[in-house]
Parts: sequence; C-alpha cells; structure tokens
Amino acid sequence: MKIEKLNTDNLRGGVFCAHGKPKSEEMYDQMEAWLDGNLLRGQIARADNGEVAGFVLYYPIEEAPLDVEGEGLYMVQCVYVKPEYQKAGTGKALVEAAMADAHKNGATGLAAEGFSDRINTGFEYKPGAFFAHMGMTATDTRGQGTLYYVGFNTEAEPPRYLEPDFKPKPHMEPRIKVDILDCRRCYTFVHNRNLVETVLAQVGEDKVTLEVHDQNDRAAILDKGMSTGVFIDGKLTFFDGPISEDDIMNAIEIAYNARLRATDR
Ligand SMILES: CC(C)(COP(=O)(O)OP(=O)(O)OC[C@H]1O[C@@H](n2cnc3c(N)ncnc32)[C@H](O)[C@@H]1OP(=O)(O)O)[C@@H](O)C(=O)NCCC(=O)NCCS
Repeated sequence: MKIEKLNTDNLRGGVFCAHGKPKSEEMYDQMEAWLDGNLLRGQIARADNGEVAGFVLYYPIEEAPLDVEGEGLYMVQCVYVKPEYQKAGTGKALVEAAMADAHKNGATGLAAEGFSDRINTGFEYKPGAFFAHMGMTATDTRGQGTLYYVGFNTEAEPPRYLEPDFKPKPHMEPRIKVDILDCRRCYTFVHNRNLVETVLAQVGEDKVTLEVHDQNDRAAILDKGMSTGVFIDGKLTFFDGPISEDDIMNAIEIAYNARLRATDR
C-alpha cells in the first residue's frame, strides 16, 4: 500500500465516495477550487494492485468549511477506507500521513469529528472510537458529534464547535419556506440539496419557496455558525446523513398542512 498526496490530478479518482453519482462534479469542482486555493489537503491510499483503498481530507482549521473553530490545528473532514480494504492498517496510515503533513506545515495538532456507534442505521460514519484509538482526545460535543484532537506541542488548543446562529424567517402564509445551507464539501450534502430541489419542483411554487444559501466559504459559515442543513419553515429539519424524496415530501406536507390549519383559525 502506498500513500499519495491529494492533488488536482488524483482528486476525482481518489475521492471515490461520489463516483458515478448524479451531480458529483459539483463536489469535485468545489474541492478542486479549495485545492487550488491551498485550503484543502489530503492523502490517498493506493493498494498494491493500483486501486484506491481510501482517502483522508483535511484543512487548516481556521479555513475549514466545517462547523468548528480553533487555532493552529489541521482539521479532518473525512477519512474513508473502502470496506474491502478495512482492518488492514489503511485508516491508521492515512491518519498518520495527515498528522505528518500537519506537523511538517507547522500545525499545532490534528483534529477530527467522530460519532458514536451508528452501525445499525446503515449510514456511513466516522467512528469516534477510531480517533480515540489513534491517540486523539475527546473535547467538545454537539448533537451526536464529538471533536477529537491530538497536540504536537504545548501550544495546541482544543477545537470547538461553532455556536449555530441562523434562524431563517418563515414566509407569510400560505406558502411555506425552505432554506438550504449548501456546502459542497461532501457528496451527502450535494445529494440532499439536489433532492430537495427536485421535490420542491414537484410541490410547486404556489406552496413553497426555496432559498439556497452558499456555505462554501468560511465567512458564510462563521456568519451562521453552521455549514449545512435544510430548514423547513424556519425549523432545522435535516442536517445529517442522506435524505430521501419521501423524507422531504413528508416534511413539506406536514409543514404545509400545519400552515393551512393555522391560516384557517
Ligand atoms: C474508521 C476507518 C477509517 C478505519 O479504517 P481501517 O483501515 O479499517 O483501520 P485500521 O485497520 O488502520 O485500524 C487502525 C487501528 O484502529 C482500530 N480501529 C479501526 N476501526 C475502529 C473503530 N471503528 N473503533 C475503534 N478502533 C478502530 C483498529 O483496531 C486498529 O487498531 P491497532 O492499530 O491497535 O491494531 C474505516 O472503518 C472507515 O473508513 N469507516 C467508514 C468511515 C466513513 O464512513 N467515512 C465516510 C464519512 S466521512
């Protein structure tokens, strides 16, 4: 197994999570821009047969398109090893390569977000226990997520979650309002935004209006204290994991019927 530095040439082949999926170019184009701008960094693990086995993506925390803040650390967005290559040291090699790169570039440490056990949900996740096993210490928590970090020196400060501060206003009746925070760092959010747009086109503009907020730069994320999420009538309804057309349609119907009942009163 070989570790290669992520660059614009190996990006589309190496970051395999969006292969063959609709509108995946939206994610790759965004990542390419961040790579060109020296924000995104990463490592690709290649198996001896030449196939990509896994990847890790990370950023200087001050510029990360993630809901975190801190000073001096590099922050992992994603580490992903294909199931057939797991349990053979690839994840460890990727995290160690990220640590070495962070150290070489003068970072004070490496941070990552991990989740508790979700194996039965069928949703891919970054297990917090893996980061703990890599020698990282748990610090802040938000919802189901926990931030982990390891310091390379005494200057390292733990990472923190941003404080969410976004309360979109519902429309005046009868239409309901959907707000999407559109961050293209991960295919899940590209998928979710496209699905919401598809469903809303079916529902029709007489019932619902949509506002898409571009959350692909740090200033926009700091402004709202969050990078992703789907708000229905001002309420954060989806923020984590892939959603389905049925999920969205049901949530829209519930919000629209509640609005009609309120209007009738
Ligand atoms: C978590 C993950 C990266 C681990 O990769 P891996 O290649 O299987 O891990 P390794 O074989 O390098 O394991 C390294 C060490 O971590 C341990 N480890 C691996 N997975 C672990 C887990 N889920 N919990 C605790 N420890 C774990 C191993 O036992 C091993 O310990 P050792 O060095 O003492 O023997 C991999 O399971 C994965 O990609 N999961 C899916 C993550 C995901 O969904 N990413 C996409 C969303 S960002």
